[in-house]
Amino acid sequence: MDVNGCNIRLRDFNRIVFFTGAGLSAESGIPTYRGRGGVWHQYNYEEFACQMAFDRDPEKVWDFHDVRRARVAACEPNLAHRVIAEAQQGNPRTAVITQNIDGLLQRAGCRSVVELHGSLWRVRCSREGIVREDFSVPFRPRRCSCGAYWRPDIVWFGDMLDSGFLEAAMKALSECDLLVTIGTSAVVYPAADLPHYAFARGVPSIEINPELTIVSHLYTYSLRGKASETLAALW
Ligand code: OAD
Repeated sequence: MDVNGCNIRLRDFNRIVFFTGAGLSAESGIPTYRGRGGVWHQYNYEEFACQMAFDRDPEKVWDFHDVRRARVAACEPNLAHRVIAEAQQGNPRTAVITQNIDGLLQRAGCRSVVELHGSLWRVRCSREGIVREDFSVPFRPRRCSCGAYWRPDIVWFGDMLDSGFLEAAMKALSECDLLVTIGTSAVVYPAADLPHYAFARGVPSIEINPELTIVSHLYTYSLRGKASETLAALW
């Protein structure tokens, strides 16, 4: 299958890195952040997605995250999530690095996902730092038994990324034989820098996005298309 001049077949590669952003889940019905109808057009992150907002008004921040939990819980993984999961199930050397917090890759069957920006489905005690999974919608109780608020275990604006996740991502990109980047605007750092570890090694790289991005020219193939149909065609 030749997709816009790209005759790569994903099955022929041994160490693929899938690097994904919000566009991967767009076809599942989850809005992206910056495009039309994007989350950050509707909500000011300074009121809903940063530590200062949480310190000021945790109930308001939790209300926002409960809305997001409900929205994501009502959505299903799409074909693109399933292709990635199939690739990883068939070859455990396949690395999946995501900026998404929705958990849809895991629901599609991915066994190992580097969640650079955390997860909507984990909470962290804001006093003791204990982290636990929680899939309830809405999330209750909002306070830990120690009395402090649970906080979404998400990398909000101004937060540091987990160094272990970053190192795992850099390692995978330093070893991959193909990079497939799907549905990210590549404007949020340090995540946006990660593909450079693969570019520097000269391995083939594919970008899948209906729109041109500021890094499209760096990819061997920059494919204008939706995640599901393009990935399925390349698979
Ligand atoms: P953005 O909303 O910035 O970009 C989404 C990208 O997906 C855009 O380039 C779209 O063109 C593309 N897109 C839309 N529909 C698509 C489809 N069907 N198939 C493929 N691509 C499609 O989202 P991210 O780049 O993921 O951080 O944003 C990065 C981070 O910024 C997020 O992780 C989030 C946000 O603040 C946190 O929440 C911590």
